Amino acid sequence: MVRFLLNDEPVELQVNDPNLTVLRYLREQQSQCGTKEGCAAGDCGACTVVVAAPTPTGDELQYRTINSCIALMSSLHGKQLITVENLGNAKSLHPVQQAMVDNHGSQCGFCTPGFIMSAFALYHSSVEVDREEAIHALSGNLCRCTGYRPIIDAALSACAQRQPDQFDAQKEQTISALLKLGSSCADKDAQALIMPTNRQQLADAMASHPLAKLVAGSTDLALDITQGQQQFDTLISLSQMAELKQIEITEHTLEIGAMAALNDVACAVTEVYPQLQELFTRFASLPIRNQATLGGNIANASPIGDTPPVMLALEASLVLDNGEECRTVAARDFFTGYRQTVMAKNEWIRRVIIPKKQPNQRVAAYKISKRQEDDISAVCAVFSLTIENHVVTKLTSGFGGVAATPVCCPELEQALVGLTWSDPTCLATGKQILANAFSPIDDVRASAAYRKQVLANLWHRFWLEHQTDNLIPTRVVSHA
Ligand SMILES: Cc1cc2nc3c(=O)[nH]c(=O)nc-3n(C[C@H](O)[C@H](O)[C@H](O)COP(=O)(O)OP(=O)(O)OC[C@H]3O[C@@H](n4cnc5c(N)ncnc54)[C@H](O)[C@@H]3O)c2cc1C
Ligand code: FES
Ligand code: FES
Repeated sequence: MVRFLLNDEPVELQVNDPNLTVLRYLREQQSQCGTKEGCAAGDCGACTVVVAAPTPTGDELQYRTINSCIALMSSLHGKQLITVENLGNAKSLHPVQQAMVDNHGSQCGFCTPGFIMSAFALYHSSVEVDREEAIHALSGNLCRCTGYRPIIDAALSACAQRQPDQFDAQKEQTISALLKLGSSCADKDAQALIMPTNRQQLADAMASHPLAKLVAGSTDLALDITQGQQQFDTLISLSQMAELKQIEITEHTLEIGAMAALNDVACAVTEVYPQLQELFTRFASLPIRNQATLGGNIANASPIGDTPPVMLALEASLVLDNGEECRTVAARDFFTGYRQTVMAKNEWIRRVIIPKKQPNQRVAAYKISKRQEDDISAVCAVFSLTIENHVVTKLTSGFGGVAATPVCCPELEQALVGLTWSDPTCLATGKQILANAFSPIDDVRASAAYRKQVLANLWHRFWLEHQTDNLIPTRVVSHA
């Protein structure tokens, strides 16, 4: 049973079809057709809705955009689903809607509900809204006819004159309703959509449904449904596994629960490794990062996933759990073949452990993609270098887009140790090794020859950028 608020109305829904997306639920079961379907793949933002959830302290609500076309119903349990129909009322529009009218931000109108919902989440965020923040908040929404300037102006003008709205007025009632709805335990007898709340329940569910897929944020898995026309008989959702959502910073490590949303992961990781900021910002779009999890990105084992090269270069390890015992596996030993890992059928990723930055460690991440925004990597390269007295004492690496799995380059890592970093031999050796280390494929994103050349170029860039202590890269390029 999924329990949530649809706008102000409590809903208890027995989900018999685990493939039901939030978008289909709204349009087909609730006749709320304000939320549009454009791509059904998380790319256009026409389907954007806002999900509000109590903060961990339980005294505020956090408003986040998600793409309803690839969100499954389990993601709503204990949350408030806010749709465009509920922002204004018969007498007046919500300030973000009024600003859109005043700034001529809509023409055909198909994208408009999605933009309104993104602007609404920004209106309810605690950030100081400037132009950059507005662009960031709207980054998952595409418009083919109006042009973005009036839409950005509308978001800016609404946020410049923020006044408490009806959502603020009802905040306390909403929080208490959500805490009550969320505290109801999942049904033990559910067969189609199973939502365990602890590791024992999860292990039992996996044992009794050996063919069922696990689902986290569903930003990969739902594409099998909406694009691949696949139908799952049973899904086991990790959405209620509170223990998988924790992020802890210890003296020497960052410990990140597999179910932590990528936006939260980005905040924690970039505190320690600020050089990774742009890689995270260029990971999909804001609504996807609100939904997608770190565990999903790693378990998916895509050769073009963006966090696996980071995990390889930072020598992260993964805690795998089967309900009875946990084992720790180095990220370097995790990927065994194309979309294959060492995980046993009865295991899941519980936690990711990333060592903290060392004093002489320099880290850089480069994502090369055809588009700057919301695009998958053609090549991703992450380097971590330790220099003592001008000499390389350690180099670790991680790459995406160049092999069947995310990979590191042991040859490069060994060849550089002991060399003086400023010696051009470091440059030449690295370029030569990387240009020949892998046998990438030709595909729509890039040719094999381009990928090899890019790797060598990125090494050149990394070497140049790290010749002095002051030169720390702050930008990630899209075209090498
Ligand atoms: C528009 C769009 C843009 C994207 N852009 C990027 C991008 O820039 N970079 C990038 O790397 N990816 C990108 N992705 C892919 C996707 O968003 C990420 O891979 C995401 O991190 C997947 O996480 P999830 O929680 O949504 O996984 P899900 O879709 O829920 O699951 C993915 C797979 O992992 C398994 N799984 C999930 N959690 C666990 C766990 N804890 N233990 C074991 N197995 C588990 C599931 O069974 C499933 O097989 C994009 C996707 C879309 C739709
Ligand atoms: S319909 Fe395009 S992102 Fe959902
Ligand atoms: S107003 Fe037509 S797509 Fe944006």
